[in-house]
Amino acid sequence: MSKKAVFVITTFAIVMTLGKGFSFAVTAEENYKWYCSQCHGLTGKGDGVNVTKDMAVSPRNHIDPKEMSKLSDADITNAITEGGPANSKSPLMPPFGKTMTAQEIKDMVVYIRKLCNCVFKKE
Ligand code: HEC
Repeated sequence: MSKKAVFVITTFAIVMTLGKGFSFAVTAEENYKWYCSQCHGLTGKGDGVNVTKDMAVSPRNHIDPKEMSKLSDADITNAITEGGPANSKSPLMPPFGKTMTAQEIKDMVVYIRKLCNCVFKKE
């Protein structure tokens, strides 16, 4: 094999290995911007672009510590996985249990806790 061919193959292998590490890891923040921000807003204030005054219930303001400290980790996990009705809340909050993995939902709960900068209700 020529030196050039070895160089090309080695470079290809390195690029593929690095690329894999970069492209498949999705953070909770990225998931939030992708799946949640149209309702909950890019910063979590509940002011997403799809929210209109005709929505019977406004999306939760995730940065309001008073609102968010009423919820436990399990409440938040439930709402994200099963949707609003699982917590006797509005079906306008859609379920994401088939869109995100259990680990991604776990990371999302941690991310939301960071947004409100508050302690959640104990189970
Ligand atoms: C189509 C609009 C919409 C999208 C998209 C959406 N939500 Fe919601 N969400 C709502 C509404 C409306 C409520 C308020 C429900 C209520 O209070 O009855 C809500 C409430 C919540 C609550 C509080 C639930 C509770 O029990 O009080 C959490 C937590 C939440 N959303 C997280 C998320 C996360 C995380 C995402 C993205 C993965 C997301 N939402 C995407 C509309 C949406």
